[in-house]
Amino acid sequence: MKAMVMESLGTENLQLKDLPDPQPGPGQVLVRLRAASLNFRDVLALRGGYGSRQKTSGLIPLSDGAGEVVDVGTGVRRFKSGDRVVNTFFPGWLSGPPDERFLQQDLGGMSDGVACELRVFSEDALLPIPASMSFVEAATLPCAAVTAWNAVRAHASVGPEHIVLTQGSGGVALFALQFAHAAGARVIAISSTAQKLEKMQAMGAQHGINYREDAEWGKTARKLTSGQGVDLVVETAGAGTLQQSIRATRLGGMITLIGMVSGAKAEVNLPIVSMGSLRIHGIAVGSRQHLEQVIAACGTNGIRPVIDCVLPLANLAEAVRFVESGQQFGKVCVEI
Ligand SMILES: NC(=O)c1ccc[n+]([C@@H]2O[C@H](COP(=O)([O-])OP(=O)(O)OC[C@H]3O[C@@H](n4cnc5c(N)ncnc54)[C@H](OP(=O)(O)O)[C@@H]3O)[C@@H](O)[C@H]2O)c1
Repeated sequence: MKAMVMESLGTENLQLKDLPDPQPGPGQVLVRLRAASLNFRDVLALRGGYGSRQKTSGLIPLSDGAGEVVDVGTGVRRFKSGDRVVNTFFPGWLSGPPDERFLQQDLGGMSDGVACELRVFSEDALLPIPASMSFVEAATLPCAAVTAWNAVRAHASVGPEHIVLTQGSGGVALFALQFAHAAGARVIAISSTAQKLEKMQAMGAQHGINYREDAEWGKTARKLTSGQGVDLVVETAGAGTLQQSIRATRLGGMITLIGMVSGAKAEVNLPIVSMGSLRIHGIAVGSRQHLEQVIAACGTNGIRPVIDCVLPLANLAEAVRFVESGQQFGKVCVEI
């Protein structure tokens, strides 16, 4: 089979190689991957951003893939040849709260990922996908959509009475916008350009703020809520935004801390957090149950993942550089 392999750290060290076809063992499923999606984390993994916890040579990158079952090992009950499937982000985390054991098993970082033609998965690490969903669409879900769902629905239980603020136009942020809008919430989106904000308003965001033109966007968001503040900030930008996110959040509101595209170390004005009774809640992607809920919610609400572009697997380095540039609107994917 063909596989994209990171020989050593750095996008320039990605090479398309021929590797032996894997065979499914007991309880395992062999999947012919058809599509994969990129996440900001893949940019980090190719730089060695996960430190000693990650594989730094011979790594097959990417965590999120979809394809069809071509063979199953003994004892497999849930799948058969021909089934269309998507993989979960943490193969061992099926449901319930996060557990240290499961969080150390992510694909495309600590172990080989899905940028390859064939891969063996434990049957627990796969879910069926509906016929109405393309392989490319399904491949956008395991990390970005599950993280957004975990933040917006599982932790914040967002509904029609809520106001949600999303940051940027990356994978997590646009799924958060879609899930909040589908739940009936009002959405305020911030982004770097007027064109991207226009697209987000077409997707259902009620207000858009350009954070490049309005450094005090937290204050502006508060004004848009009659001075009360938003119920939830889906924090994907990190150090560069957290102070304004805190300003934007209402008394007793929540910030789900997800990403760090603008930096990982932030200074926080602690009295504002304590006196504001704010809840800052970390999110670590989510479980298989969350992915199941995402697939169901996409069907019920007619949500289609926003896909910026689909490149061939051979152009993975180009796809990674595009994600790194921050110019994309939604998901960058590869066809395998
Ligand atoms: N904790 C978890 O479980 C988890 C799961 C998934 C992702 N993440 C993290 O979440 C972050 C987003 O991931 P992703 O894959 O959705 O990213 P992505 O698709 O690469 O999108 C990044 C987007 O962030 C926006 N951005 C950049 N600088 C910004 C700033 N200063 N303020 C606001 N927005 C800014 C840009 O959109 P605009 O041009 O529109 O501003 C950019 O397109 C990353 O840090 C990633 O590592 C964490």
